[in-house]
Amino acid sequence: MDPLAQELNDIIQEQNLPVYFMLSDLGKSLFFPKGILAQAAEAKQKAKKYNATIGIAKEGSGPMYLPCIQQYLAEIDPKDSYPYAPAAGKPELRAKWREKLLEDNPLLRGKRFGLPIVTSGLTHGLSLAGDLFVESGDVVIVPDKFWENYSLTYGTRRGAEFRTFPLFTFRNTFNVEGFKAIISEVASEKDKVTVILNFPNNPTGYTITPGEAEQIAAVIESTADQGVHVVAIIDDAYFGLFYDDEIMHESIFGLLANIHPRVLAVKLDGPTKEQFVWGFRVGFITYGLGGKDDGEVYAALEKKTMGAIRSGISTCSHLAQSIILKGISSPNYKREKSEKVATLQRRAQKVREVLKNEKYNDLWDAYPFNSGYFMCLKLKTVKGEDLRVHLLDKYGIGTISMDTWDVRITFSSIEEETIEDFFETVACAVKELEK
Ligand SMILES: Cc1ncc(COP(=O)(O)O)c(C=O)c1O
Repeated sequence: MDPLAQELNDIIQEQNLPVYFMLSDLGKSLFFPKGILAQAAEAKQKAKKYNATIGIAKEGSGPMYLPCIQQYLAEIDPKDSYPYAPAAGKPELRAKWREKLLEDNPLLRGKRFGLPIVTSGLTHGLSLAGDLFVESGDVVIVPDKFWENYSLTYGTRRGAEFRTFPLFTFRNTFNVEGFKAIISEVASEKDKVTVILNFPNNPTGYTITPGEAEQIAAVIESTADQGVHVVAIIDDAYFGLFYDDEIMHESIFGLLANIHPRVLAVKLDGPTKEQFVWGFRVGFITYGLGGKDDGEVYAALEKKTMGAIRSGISTCSHLAQSIILKGISSPNYKREKSEKVATLQRRAQKVREVLKNEKYNDLWDAYPFNSGYFMCLKLKTVKGEDLRVHLLDKYGIGTISMDTWDVRITFSSIEEETIEDFFETVACAVKELEK
């Protein structure tokens, strides 16, 4: 074990034993080396005369660059695009995202939580959480409708075992009892459990109500009370795309941060879906610990996370971070964002309206949806994969088949005026397959 990792482990072990327990073997051995990046960060502050630390080229006081590239980045100062960003991300962006979290999540006000650390998109953040806290033999709980990539991230890469529960009750509400049953089952076998909470949910587009959120938090708290360590991974990829008034308009992170010393809340979010910058590859990982004064523990976890970033991808795109910082700081941001959310909301409403037509009743049921990019149909007469292939081959319509009877439809990609025709064609394809 590297002495620097040992130092971080000592801090975590002394000040927050449950978090130390929750670290994977890899998490325990991670540290941020006092190597090139750390020395370069120090030099950035102090080397006022010559800075010959980091592997970039300079001209005058700024980075060297090619005009054929710079012409496309006219409004971005070269210093905000070409040099490496710090391992934990651009400090101004981290501070701005924290501010945004507090603004968007009233439950977080007055709570202790870490400074968001920049990741290369949410997938990277989810993977970092896996590196630090998920171990071979650990159990990860997800509802039966979940984003398939979790299996690769936590199952294939980290060796965790997945256990699922039905996401919905027969009343089409979140299945709190099912969640409670599966977590108690795992708690009777293990002293650590990882749960993934993803609302708006991919694939169904479901977001819980505030009441359901309270119930989920209570189940997690009581599990921790029984001596079990709970790593709550909160995937807020589609945060803010809420289309109903009665659903929870903030992250469950606000309820789980500081809830219990044995609960570690790890929030993954970012502009990918929220600000429609899918290819930029920027996200954030933010920790919310239990326990008392966690200042040093947050710092130690940040160092470990930086070590995981450094060893995997070194640093995230500086250019993308700078553009996002400018975008979300712009006076136009809120207006432009709410216009786009309203467009998606209208599409969701149109889908609901179209699906009310009784002629579809024999073909499918729609799972409840109230947020995000997607909705799912549960087919009654044909299999999802058969329908997907038929729609693609005969009509040039792309959908995603999931499980045996489900198809996922990304309504966020279909213009409102064409939604009726879309479902009419899907219905026609189902009937053709029934023959
Ligand atoms: C639930 C969920 N989480 C995370 C991601 C990944 O986000 P990113 O593109 O930022 O890695 C997706 C993308 O489809 C998603 O649906």
